[in-house]
Amino acid sequence: MEQEPRQINFAFIGFGHVGRAFARLLIDRKKWLLKEFSLEWKITGISTKNHGTSINHEGLPIKKILGSWKRHSNLDHFNEGPACSSQTDFIRQCGADVLFEMSVLDLSGGPAATYIREALGAGLHVVTTNKGPVATHFLQLTKLARLRGVKFLYEGTVMDGAPIFNMVRLNLPATRIKSLRGILNSTTNYILTQMEQGTSFESALEYARNVGLAEADPSLDLEGWDSAAKLSVLIQALMGARVKPKDIERHGISEETGRVVRAALRRDRRLRLVARAYRQGGRVIGKVELQELEIFDPLASIRGLSNILVLNTDNMRELAIIENNPTVDQTAFALFSDLVSLLQ
Ligand SMILES: NC(=O)c1ccc[n+]([C@@H]2O[C@H](COP(=O)([O-])OP(=O)(O)OC[C@H]3O[C@@H](n4cnc5c(N)ncnc54)[C@H](OP(=O)(O)O)[C@@H]3O)[C@@H](O)[C@H]2O)c1
Repeated sequence: MEQEPRQINFAFIGFGHVGRAFARLLIDRKKWLLKEFSLEWKITGISTKNHGTSINHEGLPIKKILGSWKRHSNLDHFNEGPACSSQTDFIRQCGADVLFEMSVLDLSGGPAATYIREALGAGLHVVTTNKGPVATHFLQLTKLARLRGVKFLYEGTVMDGAPIFNMVRLNLPATRIKSLRGILNSTTNYILTQMEQGTSFESALEYARNVGLAEADPSLDLEGWDSAAKLSVLIQALMGARVKPKDIERHGISEETGRVVRAALRRDRRLRLVARAYRQGGRVIGKVELQELEIFDPLASIRGLSNILVLNTDNMRELAIIENNPTVDQTAFALFSDLVSLLQ
């Protein structure tokens, strides 16, 4: 006898570049989810800051919403549910099993930490690409998820869909990460490597903003905060130390950096914004700094929007993960891979 498909309801907070790319991916992989997991999904709620909120317990017409987004990007128009007075109210009313949290980076953790806490407390699984709340409230949110018997997953917070947290959890059992280093911010790496070719700081930044890779507030990329927040998530999740973004020694890049880039190039070396963490006397130290690298250093070969993470471990010695020129579709894939891991 054929089994009835399993029904699951999703809610989104944030429907920007990532939210819309994830909705498109869910539609594309609908048949795959049905075949592999006997899963049928509906999106029962989407909430944004300025583009309205929509609830429909029968399932929102997501293809129609995506199709009409350029013409009238307001979700209120599709609302068939109760009016919500706040995001907290939305979480309570949306009827979802899983909340995908995709709002903007705020280094205090911002309202997103409250949304995640609320959702976990109400027994929803939460998947996020937002490094702010994960970096600032890691212990509190992971403990709450455990207590409530739900999953809190955040693969997309570092290097988009490249498997880091899932790979370590599943494939590196009993492995101690001694140190790590990487290039974690696409915007600054793009600017640095474009400046090597003579492009101006402004036009390189403009490109990163136009393709939706720069943060809504690009100073978070340029001043090294995005790298520091990602490094903080890596340290807390993989090295077990409580190091928040503000505890990380941090440098960024500016127009002035162009001179240093060209000087390094003349010495046949490369300037990169390197995020690194190492153990020292029972503590973990995190740093984001501009480093002039030898040409044969694997980090020196990382160009454009690409990222790299090198883990120095006891069992596997050095292990490197490279993500080549990611787009927002790879961030959407992070949410998809987290969804699949919570179905398993
Ligand atoms: N873009 C990438 O490739 C990428 C890669 C990795 C991680 N991320 C992370 O993913 C998240 C989303 O990125 P994105 O590129 O999609 O950003 P985005 O295009 O700026 O979209 C952000 C969405 O969040 C909503 N929002 C903002 N503040 C909110 C609040 N206080 N409450 C509820 N909704 C709120 C916005 O609503 P309005 O539009 O109405 O203002 C918008 O729908 C960010 O945390 C980012 O750091 C992005």
